[in-house]
Amino acid sequence: MTLAARLGSGFIARSESSSLTEDDIAAAASAMSIADGDGDGDRGCTADETGDCTVREQWTVQIEAKLKKRSTMRFDRARRQVESFLRDNHVSLPLSSCLSTFDGSTFDAFAPDNLKYIRICEARGVNGEILVDDIVPLSACVLDIHVFQDVTPAAAASEDPDQGDQQTDASRHWDLPCAELDGQWESLVFDESLPLRLLDFVYSSLLFSDRGVDTNLVNISRVILLHGPPGTGKTTLCRALAQKLAIRLSDRFSFGKLVEVNSQSLFSKFFAESGKLVVQLFQSLHDLLDDQDVFVCVLIGRCVDEVESLSAARKAAASGLEPSDAIRVVNALLTQIDRLRQRKNVLVLATSNITEAIDVAFLDRADIKQYIGDPSPRAIYQILSSSLAELMHCGIIAPSVPLQTLRELDLFAESSPASSRLFAIAKRCSGMSGRSLRRLAFIAHARFVRAPKTSMPRFLDAMEAAADSEMQSRKHLAQSS
Ligand SMILES: Nc1ncnc2c1ncn2[C@@H]1O[C@H](COP(=O)(O)OP(=O)(O)O)[C@@H](O)[C@H]1O
Ligand SMILES: [Mg+2]
Repeated sequence: MTLAARLGSGFIARSESSSLTEDDIAAAASAMSIADGDGDGDRGCTADETGDCTVREQWTVQIEAKLKKRSTMRFDRARRQVESFLRDNHVSLPLSSCLSTFDGSTFDAFAPDNLKYIRICEARGVNGEILVDDIVPLSACVLDIHVFQDVTPAAAASEDPDQGDQQTDASRHWDLPCAELDGQWESLVFDESLPLRLLDFVYSSLLFSDRGVDTNLVNISRVILLHGPPGTGKTTLCRALAQKLAIRLSDRFSFGKLVEVNSQSLFSKFFAESGKLVVQLFQSLHDLLDDQDVFVCVLIGRCVDEVESLSAARKAAASGLEPSDAIRVVNALLTQIDRLRQRKNVLVLATSNITEAIDVAFLDRADIKQYIGDPSPRAIYQILSSSLAELMHCGIIAPSVPLQTLRELDLFAESSPASSRLFAIAKRCSGMSGRSLRRLAFIAHARFVRAPKTSMPRFLDAMEAAADSEMQSRKHLAQSS
């Protein structure tokens, strides 16, 4: 049997960063004919023809298995079943993919009865290298399976009934994982694997607290600051990270919470009372964090942006002038963020639309300060092609035309007409934010298609017209301002 046939897919994708060599895959593939027995007991080595035992796992693949709402299966049992299901039905795993159709599986009723989907995420090698869009042979993989279920029904945002009106106005509480945030992580496209870097940050901070690293010697504040122009996905990434952590850390925390602090309400409605409000808000956070079983992400959106030229205002305050209410609120927030530092089960996420001159007091507190800019043409291509794939899935663009992945565009000298056309459109959209790009397919339809169904070439015409008109209106706006 050829290697490709054994891997069960058309071709073996290999990223430049991948250290999976042809020899590695061949070695792993040749080990595939040796069954795993119970599916998890003897992974770790396999016998070759001489009976020698060689280590063959090189990749730890993150798997997220979502149980249906009606499933009552215990998570530990489901984890074993998912592992058997994957190993019995597959020889290789395409990373960054999702299995959601289980009909006709040769396995028992477990998958169709209990599973909403199995998401195959990234793989890590023994030296920390990361693969995101390769196909890895299952026999070369250890599966790190995270089973989860939405904790609340469909609209998952819940307001804590114990809180008074003021507090619910100042913050929004989400129980995680929730249906509303499902798929957001996967929908975001960034040029580097920024989201994974943020995950690694949390893993490292947990490791440091598990090992009891003295924070006087190695300082960790567990604060991440994302800044950049509006519409670049900062808030969405923070929410998606909170959801991801609730799924990935379910072994050690029974549930996750996202507390979104509403900076606007802190800075406007109750202005005179804001200092008190901040203290109350954080007191309720501390109460929540007393439960070691919960991991809490606190999202403070655009708080630094609310104070115009915060640094200048600070200088004025330092030179003896009365500090403004706004400064008082920000100072109260900073003090409270500092108090959170002793807690291990919290992560503070701050976002700002200010791209330069962020207040130094904020910068100092953040372990990670990450600029997020507008997407590159390659990222734009991915955003637009996922929008078009969705319209094909829903029958608005028909018949379906497969669009190539970036990897395929790089690998093959010839690209399909639809893909190369879309890439040309992506280049024309340079400078548009992720938010505008996610809207483009809708604008194209509403303005230039206006029919329940259309073909891909006609839809691409509409996309091009919509992109051009969007760029034109941006130019006008820029000129008039
Ligand atoms: N890099 C991106 N990839 C995919 N979609 C994006 C991206 N950036 C923004 N979006 C889309 O724009 C919407 C708004 O983004 P948001 O998180 O509110 O941006 P910000 O907080 O930076 O202003 C998101 O829900 C998403 O649909
Ligand atoms: Mg935002």
